[in-house]
Amino acid sequence: MRLTTERLVIREIRKSDVKDIVRNANNLNVSRYLLRVPYPYRKKDGEWWVGLCQKDSKKKPRIDYQFAIELKSEKRLIGAISLMHVDRFQGTAEIGFWLGEGYWRQGIMSEAIRVVLEIGFEKLKLRRINWNAFAENKGSNALAKKFSFKFEGVKRKDVRSKATGKIHDHNLCGLLFEDWKRKR
Ligand SMILES: CC(C)(COP(=O)(O)OP(=O)(O)OC[C@H]1O[C@@H](n2cnc3c(N)ncnc32)[C@H](O)[C@@H]1OP(=O)(O)O)[C@@H](O)C(=O)NCCC(=O)NCCS
Repeated sequence: MRLTTERLVIREIRKSDVKDIVRNANNLNVSRYLLRVPYPYRKKDGEWWVGLCQKDSKKKPRIDYQFAIELKSEKRLIGAISLMHVDRFQGTAEIGFWLGEGYWRQGIMSEAIRVVLEIGFEKLKLRRINWNAFAENKGSNALAKKFSFKFEGVKRKDVRSKATGKIHDHNLCGLLFEDWKRKR
């Protein structure tokens, strides 16, 4: 799959992305509130993840969609966005993402999220998309609100950051198809 927005290309992850993945993900400010991203983040971690994404992209039906976020002006990966655990019977999936720190607060992730919500609701016909964020993750929680995800509760001490080893509360949010349709 390959989609474009004003500034971005949203496309499948490639072997040649490893260098850019490491460049952007090897930063505790990026991985502190992520479940499975180690710190330090080395070439072997990038290679393992690219291999996993490529394997996932071949599954039929596809369950996990992981995309590179490429800035048109740089023609290289600056982050990633995913729609995971797509359950066609339940009509649900979970959105997740990260962006290299040098690209924050320019509306880039908002641009990528719009595309992925469209894939989820229009192409995959989902009924609900889940957005879970560590309680301390100000950026992600603010962004969820911006996209009208409804805060539905906290799972106490539910998650552990791979990068820091610390345990956190997990905020659970969800967006329904009809709410997305109304707000877009
Ligand atoms: C969270 C993250 C993806 C945001 O990406 P971004 O491209 O900077 O987000 P945007 O520029 O589209 O932000 C849109 C709005 O979200 C809110 N927001 C984003 N980052 C914020 C922050 N650090 N603090 C408070 N609000 C924030 C703001 O309302 C912002 O609008 P504004 O810049 O006009 O005020 C990025 O900070 C990141 O990669 N963080 C590390 C990984 C991570 O936490 N991923 C999410 C896991 S659930």
